[in-house]
Amino acid sequence: MEFVKLNFEYSDDVTVINREQFEAHMRLYEGYINKMNEIDGLLAENSDLEQANSTYSEYRGIKRGETFALNGVILHEFYFENIGSLNNVPEDSVTRCLARDYGSFDLWQDHFVATAKASRGWVVLCYDPRSDRFRNISLDAHDIGNIAISVPILVLDMYEHAYFLEYADDKTTYINNFMKNIDWCIVKDRLESL
Ligand SMILES: [Fe+2]
Repeated sequence: MEFVKLNFEYSDDVTVINREQFEAHMRLYEGYINKMNEIDGLLAENSDLEQANSTYSEYRGIKRGETFALNGVILHEFYFENIGSLNNVPEDSVTRCLARDYGSFDLWQDHFVATAKASRGWVVLCYDPRSDRFRNISLDAHDIGNIAISVPILVLDMYEHAYFLEYADDKTTYINNFMKNIDWCIVKDRLESL
């Protein structure tokens, strides 16, 4: 399957990132799309298999890039999709889910913000079927920190490239603006599809 960039349109209703920050970020996302097509093309050639080596090898480079780029595609698509506009409020069915595992919706939110501050790459609210609970997980890179089986529900990009152009080192304001711009309808759809 060839990877094709999804079309995310910038909206002036979105106040978490400005147009310049959005467009720069979109170019990075497109880079992962292109790399996945390149990697799948290399894998289809079935070459370098005999030289595979865990210290250094061409094949190791492809394998390291494969999950890095694929998660880069997936996580960016979840992130851009779940950015909404101001004054979204979650429905009771959503807040109940999160309150179940965190004590209250507000406590879930406090943990999500803390996880964002603790992350170098991503914070992901995901469903973990192994323990039947929702978890805010911290990823230091696209491929570092994920649970082997988990379903993303809400995704926030905490790489510096996601906010530095607009917010410089003020990551707290970026996180707070994101929390006010969550598209809770998308979150609800993801919860209902579990
Ligand atoms: Fe990003």
